[in-house]
Amino acid sequence: MSRAVSMSTDPAEAGPDPAPSAVPSAAVTTAAEAPGRVAVIVPAAGKGERLGPGAPKALRELGGLPLLVHAVRTLVAARSVDVVVVAAPPNPQGLAEVQRLLADLPGDTRVVAGGRTRQESVALALAALPADCDVVLVHDAARALTPVDVVEAVVAAVRAGAGAVIPVLPVADTIKAVDGDQVSATVDRSTLRAVQTPQGFTRDILAKAHAASNPSLPATDDAGLVEALGLPVHTVPGHAEAFKITTPFDLVLAEAVLRRRR
Ligand code: C5P
Repeated sequence: MSRAVSMSTDPAEAGPDPAPSAVPSAAVTTAAEAPGRVAVIVPAAGKGERLGPGAPKALRELGGLPLLVHAVRTLVAARSVDVVVVAAPPNPQGLAEVQRLLADLPGDTRVVAGGRTRQESVALALAALPADCDVVLVHDAARALTPVDVVEAVVAAVRAGAGAVIPVLPVADTIKAVDGDQVSATVDRSTLRAVQTPQGFTRDILAKAHAASNPSLPATDDAGLVEALGLPVHTVPGHAEAFKITTPFDLVLAEAVLRRRR
């Protein structure tokens, strides 16, 4: 990506995983017919209370740099990505800090004020996208160490004809449903996948999914909104290093991954 920063404060030892890819050969809504630019929305407005007291999660440091900087550095390094729009904490300090951090990075990066929920933050960034972007990824700032190959695989799957794409990993633990402290069922692990970001969409499908969503029942991911429309969501292999940094233990793990990379 070339260098350009703009800001709006108007209204975020693993090789490729063996999980099967399920990108269709037939198009759902194809971006391949009229290729436009690729934008990535980064919801980064969360407080990150599970990490303990301190700065908003996206601004917590990992190896001396905020999680958001790690995440956006990877995105601007992806050959297929043209624009990155970050939804920042919607207060003057949060916005100013995110604007300052992005100003030091290469590429076309933009800032909008985030919302009260992740879904609202994504919707606000979606409304601020340049008109010529026809593929939109949504990537959590908290997945700060996601390898660039995962980003490229998601874009490639949308370009190949999938309207909605998510990176997934098989589930290692046995999963049980519980009722209070009593087990009510053991879920068939072979059909389960842990879901990561970036999630990729044709712009029209993501916009329709958000327009149809209920803001008072926010979804935990964008693909869930597409599923609610009855549209297919396809998978590509995720990566262990794309884990979400949520707890103090995750930060310890992330520091170790970073040390091994350096
Ligand atoms: O809270 P959770 O871990 O699900 O947050 C996922 C991502 O959504 C984080 O990157 C967080 O900063 C972002 N988020 C947001 N706006 C909110 C809440 C969360 O952008 N109001």
